[in-house]
Amino acid sequence: MTNIAVIGGGQIGEALVSGLVAANVNPLHIRVTNRTEARGQELHDRYGIVNMTDNAQAADEADVVFLCVKPKFIIEVLSEITPTLDNNSTHSVVVSMAAGISIAAMEESATAGLPVIRVMPNTPMLVGKGMSTVTPGRHINEDQLNKVKELLSTVGDVLEVAEYELDAVTAMSGSSPAYLFLVTEALIDAGVNLGLPRGTAKQLAVAAFEGAATMMKETGKEPSELRAGVSSPAGTTIAAIRELEESGIRGAFYRAAQACADRSEELGKQ
Ligand SMILES: NC(=O)c1ccc[n+]([C@@H]2O[C@H](COP(=O)([O-])OP(=O)(O)OC[C@H]3O[C@@H](n4cnc5c(N)ncnc54)[C@H](OP(=O)(O)O)[C@@H]3O)[C@@H](O)[C@H]2O)c1
Repeated sequence: MTNIAVIGGGQIGEALVSGLVAANVNPLHIRVTNRTEARGQELHDRYGIVNMTDNAQAADEADVVFLCVKPKFIIEVLSEITPTLDNNSTHSVVVSMAAGISIAAMEESATAGLPVIRVMPNTPMLVGKGMSTVTPGRHINEDQLNKVKELLSTVGDVLEVAEYELDAVTAMSGSSPAYLFLVTEALIDAGVNLGLPRGTAKQLAVAAFEGAATMMKETGKEPSELRAGVSSPAGTTIAAIRELEESGIRGAFYRAAQACADRSEELGKQ
């Protein structure tokens, strides 16, 4: 059984743990750390994981250490656990889930030869529908990479990408669930404005977006083709689409993705 340490049981840490446990990974083999004891207790009560506050202790004899703290804490946490990783009998793999922090920065701050993987996850992991990209560092072997891919595939899809693509990946899948939450929120308000009760508007909007996302995934058709298919000449849908286009929805997404990628790059330089 693989011993797993999750350093930082926040949004992403919990999403990962929740998916792993749902996929029958034994929670007694998952150690989760937080600085706040109460948060760890909450995760223990919810998932049965081993709750800790000492990062080095959590990394002791761990096969895979997931770093799920904010980017500004990654190097600090890595330094904290390096002596333990050096003493471990196995070559523990360190997996950083943080935006912006490069493989080189992590490799430089640890002992030479550290096997490190950068992952860009997203929160739908919480419901087993995550999208994670993996980028192996210089000292990762195929077995280690496959092990991490296998763990991540218990919580969603996995795709290998090059490190130079990661700022764009952050804009595309790491942050994009929030774009859809915002769009859904706006559509619900629009429904309320049309006179629907909020609960009804929410049920309709969420089910429609879920169904549309499933259609895009399962049919493999281009979104443009699916949209054309439901836009009858002079019909209701094309009237709505025209408003969205005239309101600059495409430009808004180009700018949003650029802002996200720029911020990811900036975080890496700090
Ligand atoms: N949220 C997303 O949608 C998303 C998407 C893609 C990537 N990411 C990446 O995932 C990482 C985590 O983001 P998040 O949104 O999950 O953040 P978060 O909710 O703030 O979680 C961070 C967790 O780390 C704990 N923590 C902080 N410092 C610690 C330390 N020194 N030792 C142990 N635990 C510590 C915090 O708890 P205490 O304060 O109690 O210690 C908190 O539970 C980030 O690097 C982010 O770039 C997030």
